[in-house]
Amino acid sequence: MSALPQYGKHLHPSATMRAVLIDRYGGPEVLRLATVPRPVPTRGQVLVRTRFIGVNPKDVIVRKGKFQIATGKKFPLIVGHDIAGEVVEVGLGADLAKGDQVYGMINDFAGRAYAEYAAVDCQQLAKAPASIELAAAAAVPLAAQTALQALRDDAQLKAGQTVLINGASGGVGVFAIQIAKILGAQVTAVCSHRNIDLVTELGADRVIDYTKTELVELDEQFDAIFDVFGNYRFDKLKKLLSARGTYVNTIPSARIFKDVARSFVRRKRAKLVIVKSRRDQLDWLRQQIDAGRLRVVVDRSFPLANIAEAHRYMETKRARGKVVLAVD
Ligand SMILES: NC(=O)c1ccc[n+]([C@@H]2O[C@H](COP(=O)([O-])OP(=O)(O)OC[C@H]3O[C@@H](n4cnc5c(N)ncnc54)[C@H](OP(=O)(O)O)[C@@H]3O)[C@@H](O)[C@H]2O)c1
Repeated sequence: MSALPQYGKHLHPSATMRAVLIDRYGGPEVLRLATVPRPVPTRGQVLVRTRFIGVNPKDVIVRKGKFQIATGKKFPLIVGHDIAGEVVEVGLGADLAKGDQVYGMINDFAGRAYAEYAAVDCQQLAKAPASIELAAAAAVPLAAQTALQALRDDAQLKAGQTVLINGASGGVGVFAIQIAKILGAQVTAVCSHRNIDLVTELGADRVIDYTKTELVELDEQFDAIFDVFGNYRFDKLKKLLSARGTYVNTIPSARIFKDVARSFVRRKRAKLVIVKSRRDQLDWLRQQIDAGRLRVVVDRSFPLANIAEAHRYMETKRARGKVVLAVD
């Protein structure tokens, strides 16, 4: 049985679980299934028996070691952020109950979702939507909260405004289109030809095929640009922003930090979204899903044991919506 240094002393003395570990940073081959001690929930936490896990590009980036400054060099490490499952133990002061079906995202930088059990701060979780399967619920937290935080909090998108969403067919994009529509905006979605039908069904008012049209050559302006795919720069797309428009990128880089700082006192602003899981946001998303306003698009599902295959698929950058892992 492998030890888990990142859990410190909060481990069950005898109970175990299956988890996907990495012993070093690297390619998908570093992911291995192992039996490890089960965590114990501390104050404010609950222990969730995970049924489904959402896979995100962030998991791939962590696995590669690109966030080492935050994830450190202590191994083995459990990666992953999105979970849906059932509360099986409640720590002191936690406001969820045993038996609750929950979904949420673990805010720790490396995460620790790729496991049969996860001890999670209950404010990073909420009751799961009742109208969808837990498999779909696991696809929601990281991607949908990114879209919500980028559009509502960073861009402050309002009814009647216009938004351009680049990378509209991926995990974050499919939520961004629908959330922008819920906020009352006019949506222009950018994707390749193969995804035009998908983004139109999700509510895009207009679609631009990036293989045919170069965005920088557009002769129009938007109140917000959400560069989900992140392959543009603020200075390239600034001319497409209206007088007080906001550009939001998803990829931390020296360039975007500079753009954010420089544009702070300007009318056209650059922002970087850094997603955080919050109960109120998960509650809002659940209400939208249960009211039939927000659809979850799951592209593929893999068994937990096929995690390397799931990571290889994510790395193609061709996912249409989300990828999930089934734990059982
Ligand atoms: N900062 C944060 O807090 C945060 C949070 C979440 C995600 N992110 C980052 O946001 C990015 C997107 O995440 P995701 O989950 O949406 O990724 P994803 O699901 O892997 O995105 C896949 C989609 O990207 C599209 N795509 C590929 N090449 C493109 C291009 N040149 N132009 C436009 N679209 C293109 C593909 O559509 P086509 O096949 O049609 O090209 C595909 O549908 C990732 O880099 C991720 O790390 C950051």
